[in-house]
This record gives sequence, C-alpha cells and structure tokens, in this order.
Amino acid sequence: MKKILITGGSGFIGTNLIFHLVKKNYKVFNIDKISKVSTPEKFKKKINKNYYFFKQNLLNESKLKKTIFKIKPDIILNLAAESHVDRSIDEPKFFIINNISSSLNLFKVLRGYYKYNKKIKIFHFSTDEVYGSNNNKIFSEKSIYNPSSPYAASKGSSDLVANSFFETYNLPMTIFHISNNYGPFQFIEKFIPKIITNYLNNKNIPIYGNGLNIREWLYVKDTCIAIEKAFKSNIKNERYNIGSGKRYKNIFLTKLIIRILKNKFKIKSKSKILYVKDRPGHDFRYAINSKKFYNKVNWKPKKTIVSGLEETISWYLDNKKWLRNSKKKYNGKRQGSV
Ligand SMILES: NC(=O)c1ccc[n+]([C@@H]2O[C@H](COP(=O)([O-])OP(=O)(O)OC[C@H]3O[C@@H](n4cnc5c(N)ncnc54)[C@H](O)[C@@H]3O)[C@@H](O)[C@H]2O)c1
Repeated sequence: MKKILITGGSGFIGTNLIFHLVKKNYKVFNIDKISKVSTPEKFKKKINKNYYFFKQNLLNESKLKKTIFKIKPDIILNLAAESHVDRSIDEPKFFIINNISSSLNLFKVLRGYYKYNKKIKIFHFSTDEVYGSNNNKIFSEKSIYNPSSPYAASKGSSDLVANSFFETYNLPMTIFHISNNYGPFQFIEKFIPKIITNYLNNKNIPIYGNGLNIREWLYVKDTCIAIEKAFKSNIKNERYNIGSGKRYKNIFLTKLIIRILKNKFKIKSKSKILYVKDRPGHDFRYAINSKKFYNKVNWKPKKTIVSGLEETISWYLDNKKWLRNSKKKYNGKRQGSV
C-alpha cells in the first residue's frame, strides 16, 4: 500500500484530498500545524482507518526529520502554506517566512530521505497567481513570474526553491500551478464561502472594486482526482498548470450564488451586494492553459460551475457544527485593506 504524506492536510484542499485518498485505500499521513483556517481533527472522525495525523509546524526542521523518517512516505504532496491574499497584505513577513521556510525545510529533509528511497515522488503545490495579472493572454508553464501580492510572491519564491533542489540535488520535483479552487471545507474568509455565509446571516456581501475581476474556478473534488491521477502517472520533474479553463467575473459568480440560494434552496435573505474599496494590488484576471497536464495524465475537470456551487452550498448548509467552529475563528472583518 502506497504511503502518502500530505503537508497542510488540515486545510481546505488537504482535507478534501484526505477524504478522497483514504476512500481509495491509500495510507495517508498529514502534517499540519493547525491554524485558524484548518479543519480540526474532530471533523475527520469518520476516516480513522489508514489515516495518521501529526500536529507539527514544518518550521521545526529536526522534528520534521524524525517524523518523515518514521513515516517513510512514497509520495509527498506539499500543500502547507498560508494562503489568503488579504491576510498576506496585513502580514507580509509572516507569509514570506512561513511559505518559503516551510518548503525549504521539507525539501532539506527529503534530500536526506531520498538517499534511502530513490523512488519517492514529490509534488509541490503552487498557484496561477505567481504569473500575475493579465488582461487578455493565457499563461503557459513558460510564462514569467510576476506576482502582485505578498502571498503570490511567497509561493513563487518557494517554487524557485523547489526547482533549485531538483537542479542541484536531483530531488524529484513536480510543481503544479493550480487555479482558484472552491468546495466543501473552505475557510469562511475566502470569496465563495464568504458570499454563502453572509447571505445566510443576512449580512451584506462585499465586492472589491467594480466586481469585474476574473478568476478561473476549479471544483476541489476535480482537483483531488487530478492529484491522484498525477501521482499514479509517470510525470516527474516538470511544471504543470492545472485549471478548468472556466473563467468568471466576481460579480457574475456572486449573483449566480445568490440565485442558487434563492431559487434552488428557497432561502430568503436581507443581504445585499455592497461595492467596497478595492484590494490593493488586486490582479484583474487569471487565466492559464492546462493542456500540457490534460494531455499528459488524461484528466479534465467534470463539474460545471452550477452543479459545483450547488454541491458546495448544500455542504455549508449541512455542516452547521463546522460552520459554527469557523465563525469562532473569524468574525467577518475586512482584511488587507491597507
Ligand atoms: N485554494 C486554492 O484556491 C488554491 C489555488 C492554488 C494553489 N493553492 C495552494 O494549495 C495549497 C493548499 O491550499 P488550501 O486552500 O488548502 O490552503 P489552506 O490555507 O486552506 O490550508 C493550508 C494548511 O497548511 C497549514 N500550514 C501552513 N503553514 C504550515 C507550516 N509551517 N507547518 C505546518 N502546516 C502549515 C495550515 O495550518 C493549513 O491547515 C497551498 O499551498 C496553496 O497556496 C490553493
């Protein structure tokens, strides 16, 4: 049975991935420091079989070394990062230090471990945000890095560290640039959960600037399938964009979510859309070409935006305990407005 180590497995994508992989009978190990965005372990009770949790900060290198040599993983999925752009505007140093040093420590330890297991596969998770904003182009894996936010800069920097460990030490390393994900377990400070929860709580829905900014949206369960296909394939030592090709304006998505809440779920609300001061350095548009990945691993996202949003809303309505727990950690206040 393959042993899979996920760093940051208590975050949004990690939690979905753990549910997905444990069902497929992989042995899954999660190292997470548990921050306010993390899903606490009590919500993973259903998956105690083949799942092992280590509450640990990757910044502690010696502890990390002990854990990795104890686990002896075959596949490493490096998801751990501070990931909210708005918070990175408020706390740039924390983001830069955490996101670069946590990956650096992991790669240093894996360099030692690689001597004992030459078959390991390492996947480092990056974002389409490292390419920066563009008005009409579509970025490929060859596009230059031009990050706007401290978050994107920290992710781009950790990609460069990942690449250097491949070039210098031959550490097998694949880098994924993933587009905006949405779905269950996403912390309520992020765009889509915020729209849903504000609507449910009769609170106004803040839209930055004129609402015309464009993002490429991918349903998290499609991402989980893509990741599994990727580590089962023979891809190695390359960079891949993973997106849906489906791009929507923020205001379009907001109105669509409200329409689904009203019409499908029959929920009324006093909530209104409220245009607020724009995010500083707000990228206008993200767009990536993912053909290299589609062709290489024979994967394409399946979910349409409407059915993905319906499933997401349904999950937030059904998981009231999780939502109550999240609300204790975030009061809805604007972050990153400078
Ligand atoms: N969610 C998206 O839309 C998206 C898109 C592209 C790329 N990504 C990348 O995918 C990864 C996962 O994203 P997510 O949305 O699940 O993020 P998230 O913020 O929901 O979760 C990240 C998890 O990493 C943990 N973590 C952070 N620093 C750590 C450290 N030093 N030691 C141990 N644990 C640590 C946190 O506690 C948290 O549980 C991130 O690297 C992110 O940059 C996410």
